[in-house]
Amino acid sequence: MKVLVLGSGGREHALGWKLKQSPLLTELFFTPGNPGTAELGRNVSLADNAALVEFARENAVDLVIVGPEQPLVDGIADRLAEIGVACFGPSAAAARLEGSKAFAKQVMDATGIPTAAYQAFTELEPALAYVAEQSLPIVIKADGLAGGKGVTICQTELEAQAALREALQEGRFGAAGSTVVVEEFLTGTEASVHIICDGERFIPLITAQDHKTLYEDGKGPNTGGMGTFAPSPMVTPELMTRIEEEIARPVFEHMQREGQPFRGVLFAGLMLTWNGPKVLEFNVRFGDPETQVILPLLQTDLLPILHQAATGTLQTEPPLKWHDGHAVCVVLAAEGYPRAPRKGDKITGVGAYEQGVVFQAGTKSDGHSGLVTAGGRVLGLTAWDANLQAARTRAYQLVDKIDFAGKHYRRDIGGASR
Ligand code: AMP
Ligand code: GLY
Repeated sequence: MKVLVLGSGGREHALGWKLKQSPLLTELFFTPGNPGTAELGRNVSLADNAALVEFARENAVDLVIVGPEQPLVDGIADRLAEIGVACFGPSAAAARLEGSKAFAKQVMDATGIPTAAYQAFTELEPALAYVAEQSLPIVIKADGLAGGKGVTICQTELEAQAALREALQEGRFGAAGSTVVVEEFLTGTEASVHIICDGERFIPLITAQDHKTLYEDGKGPNTGGMGTFAPSPMVTPELMTRIEEEIARPVFEHMQREGQPFRGVLFAGLMLTWNGPKVLEFNVRFGDPETQVILPLLQTDLLPILHQAATGTLQTEPPLKWHDGHAVCVVLAAEGYPRAPRKGDKITGVGAYEQGVVFQAGTKSDGHSGLVTAGGRVLGLTAWDANLQAARTRAYQLVDKIDFAGKHYRRDIGGASR
């Protein structure tokens, strides 16, 4: 099978790393990819979605796997369907589950999926009036894609008013913020659940937990994710069954009924509350850096699963096989991340390690044989071992081996805090 992976981050490097182990793989392309993916396959530069479709046709690509959400929201799966190329990732209509938080909330309302109480607004005055009646803290979310920056947790009414003004009046998020969702603040432990679906049948993957804030103990601004571990000890098999029946099945059945079947991976960000699991958000693609800890634990060949999901032929038996242990991914971020990451710092120590792998994200070749930083999240250092503590130790051993000026990471990945 000839496979093309769309994206350039640690998630795409991890997908390529796992796909490379498949006996079914004959050729692997990435667009645009990164120096890490260039070691696994061929990086190709394609200007836009139209160029990608053309490349897939000319090269008789059997499967396109889409990493990030934006091309899905823009309809890349629909364009590929028109020329008969299988795409792992949903149609634009189904990608609205991530592309519009108001749409996702409507689906949850329609199907009784547990989520925070909310209202959506396009006008400032009614939004301000609604906030005045709610308890604090309160959460304000830009409706559309905002690169992980669209959520503000407001401790005071003043902060909530400012967040609403920024989105609805000052256009801080552009069109993505012309609708806002105001929702109840939930407390509990967060967990990420990924479920692969072919439009009808579905298979859950093992759970992961992300550490979102820049600093230890949930402090500092939210980032795309500073590290992850898997599996999450909070999600017992009983809880997983509940998540499948109360969240996954209703959403997939709804989308199918509406004539917009979901093909790809649904990544549900959950809050595990005293009243059961509640959905914080849906994403329509693999998590980054969740993928970096999920895939190293997967024993089963990933390629047929993704191809079956893309073509509506998912085999749910035999069940996926997982390695027994745990995996931990520590993100090394550049100085200035997430606001204004510095680029061009020389990276040392990237290589092959036992029971671990260096997934590249914001890296660039220095023009010779070396690497320099080229983005906010530079590397994801992933290690696995029999238990979480041992996996953590291994991951932090990798942290000590790899260096660049301004290297920033959290010391508590895989620990108890968020
Ligand atoms: P989202 O992009 O919607 O997942 O939001 C980003 C982060 O904001 C989540 O991972 C949570 O940590 C936090 N968050 C979002 N919605 C809520 C909520 N209703 N209550 C508490 N925290 C939330
Ligand atoms: N790690 C969170 C995300 O991929 O959205």
